[in-house]
Amino acid sequence: MCGIAGYIGEKQALPFLINGLKKLEYRGYDSAGIAIYHEGRIEVRRQTGKIAELERSIAGQTIEGTQGIAHTRWATHGVPSNRNSHPHRDTDGHIAVVHNGIIENYLELRGELEDKGYTFTSETDTEVIPNLIADCFKGDLLAAVEEAKARLRGSYAAVCMSQDDPGRLIGIRQDSPLIIGYGDDGNYFASDIPALIGYVKSYTVLKNGETAVMTKEGVTIYVDGSAVEPEVEALTMDLDAAEKGGYEHFMLKEIIEQPRALKDCLSGRISYGKHVVDLGELKLNAAKMEKINKIVMVACGTAYHACYVGRYIYEKMLRIPVEVEIASEFRYRDPILDEKTLTIVVSQSGETADTLAALAEAKRKGSHILAITNVWESSIAREAHDVIYTRAGLEIAVASTKAYTTQVLAIYLLGLYMAELKGKMIRREIQTIINELYRLPDKVQKIFDDQLDTIKAMAEKIADHEDAFFIGRDLDYVVALEGALKLKEISYIHAEAYAAGELKHGTLALIVDQVPVISVCTQKILEEKMISNIKEAQTRDGQIFAIAFEGDPVISSVADHVCYLPKTNDLLAPILTVIPLQLIAYYASVKRGADVDKPRNLAKSVTVE
Ligand code: G6P
Repeated sequence: MCGIAGYIGEKQALPFLINGLKKLEYRGYDSAGIAIYHEGRIEVRRQTGKIAELERSIAGQTIEGTQGIAHTRWATHGVPSNRNSHPHRDTDGHIAVVHNGIIENYLELRGELEDKGYTFTSETDTEVIPNLIADCFKGDLLAAVEEAKARLRGSYAAVCMSQDDPGRLIGIRQDSPLIIGYGDDGNYFASDIPALIGYVKSYTVLKNGETAVMTKEGVTIYVDGSAVEPEVEALTMDLDAAEKGGYEHFMLKEIIEQPRALKDCLSGRISYGKHVVDLGELKLNAAKMEKINKIVMVACGTAYHACYVGRYIYEKMLRIPVEVEIASEFRYRDPILDEKTLTIVVSQSGETADTLAALAEAKRKGSHILAITNVWESSIAREAHDVIYTRAGLEIAVASTKAYTTQVLAIYLLGLYMAELKGKMIRREIQTIINELYRLPDKVQKIFDDQLDTIKAMAEKIADHEDAFFIGRDLDYVVALEGALKLKEISYIHAEAYAAGELKHGTLALIVDQVPVISVCTQKILEEKMISNIKEAQTRDGQIFAIAFEGDPVISSVADHVCYLPKTNDLLAPILTVIPLQLIAYYASVKRGADVDKPRNLAKSVTVE
């Protein structure tokens, strides 16, 4: 996701701003920019592409100043372009702002500000912030920021400065990280520690709701208008550890980031208590949806497993037949589809060659193409008629985790959107699911808070085996598929997933000698059947590891080991059940000494067929 750097002090700001941004490159971005204050004026430079291109664009220019802010942007609202890049300024160009996160009520604020005569030059949500601050500004930047902050809804880490109240940078934070660094020659802002390494020896992580006022002499942090004592930490991490957020591997960092990623994916798309899903301006409207009589979902790898969730839930929600296809098979099968087919392609990278070719084939046959992807302006995003971005942020580990859960979440949002268009679900049902979707990020966090030791202990037992089987029924089966893929790709344990009822038609022959059988058991109406399947495996000396909702006494009476998850609607279970399976794979891989982030023979993005 986006990166922020800021400096105020004795030295020229430009070198740190550029270097700080470079240290944040690992977060992923598509454009970069700087704003520097000098002698009553703020100079802004912005450029799409890499930081090197920004540097090239300003080479030979003198951009002086000892106070500045900078940003790398990962597009969420508005395409990557110079005018959508940060820093953004108010209409008069006196206030500059860099921002990470999503302002959910930006359309409402923008309308209000436009009515007052403010003009906007970008498609971003961010541009409302400098204009709102300008509207509140009466000579004191802090007062204006506090007043503006009270109007913002959503997530933000933002830093601003004004040429009418120079000598200070002001940072605010709600749900997106912002760090303050204390240096000998001035003070620093950054969205992540790597930017600060080599510049500061101590830092403070700004907390939600806090406002930091930074001058070259020091930093004061306010909560509700009163100054508070900051918690200052010594900076001891090296660059590699800092990029991984202090975690041993990117995969673990990305697993732990899921509550944040899920919130970003939901942001501005649903509201608690409402039945409407806002997916932007999709061409898939009621008239188009009326004609759709079949949905085809196409992808590879983990994204293919996300499609499987789609199949089960869309058939339940919409009563439309759904086919799920492996992209590399689909295009050569001369698939039967036409303008009445909706083709949904799912791809983290948006560049997978097989998925892109499948998309082209479906398009050629007249199907409406909707892409679900994590990468703005990727080839798949560009080729599709409609796009839903998952907003997972950059995923570095080859084994996909936060990309999967956000794909599944986007699939749910699309399902609810289509159900509303088709009138297939009553509004109360949609609203109930939306309310529960709202709670899911916190429930994922609760798994980390309460179950990590249990999951780790399970993983360590599983790691001693060379084979493992994953079973489940209905939505538990589709998650079992992803659990088996995760385990095999990073721990190299041979792992297979089966629909639990199918076990007895062959695989049961392999259940011997305490072989792990990881059983996902959340679908209430199938619980008795699941218990029978677990018993079949246990009787053959299988070792049962169950994933179940809390307060399920039946499972604990039959399984050898149980991981309990917070209860949710059965339909939404996949977003929770996959979490322990990701962690089992991770800890098993660590125990076996495998290369977690770069498993042998595999690549993050496969751009050959
Ligand atoms: C590779 C990756 C997988 C990914 C698959 C599809 O095999 O290793 O993690 O699921 O490609 O990638 P995509 O970017 O299209 O989701």
